[in-house]
Amino acid sequence: MGDLERFGVSMDAKLLSAFDALTRRQGYTNRSEAIRDLVRDRLARQEWLDSAQEVVGVVTLVYDHHVRELTAALIDLQHDCEAEVICSTHVHLDHHNCLEIIALRGAASVVQAVADRLIGTRGVKHGQLMRTTTGERLV
Ligand code: NI
Repeated sequence: MGDLERFGVSMDAKLLSAFDALTRRQGYTNRSEAIRDLVRDRLARQEWLDSAQEVVGVVTLVYDHHVRELTAALIDLQHDCEAEVICSTHVHLDHHNCLEIIALRGAASVVQAVADRLIGTRGVKHGQLMRTTTGERLV
């Protein structure tokens, strides 16, 4: 961490009270750390708006592995995008359903495109992309 700088913030009392209640529920023990995390989250989200910025994304896919050629299609897609796919984990949820967790790293526009292809693969029941950061530009 760099030099600490203190600053004052004016805020509506009700808004601050709601913020404190929320962060207490989330387990924060002090307001400063909650505010630092808000700022980091906003900066990390901003990285995704610059399509060339290197970012990290985590895709979750839930699908039925009995759907014809779906498993092979998802594996082929990941091999096609081997530059972006960092790793993947497969969980057998039950007899039919699988959960795949795929970590991606690369330019924001490419990571988004790879995630869209994975999530949009026919037969995927539910897919999500969690957008995060390499952490290099955050303190
Ligand atoms: Ni499975």
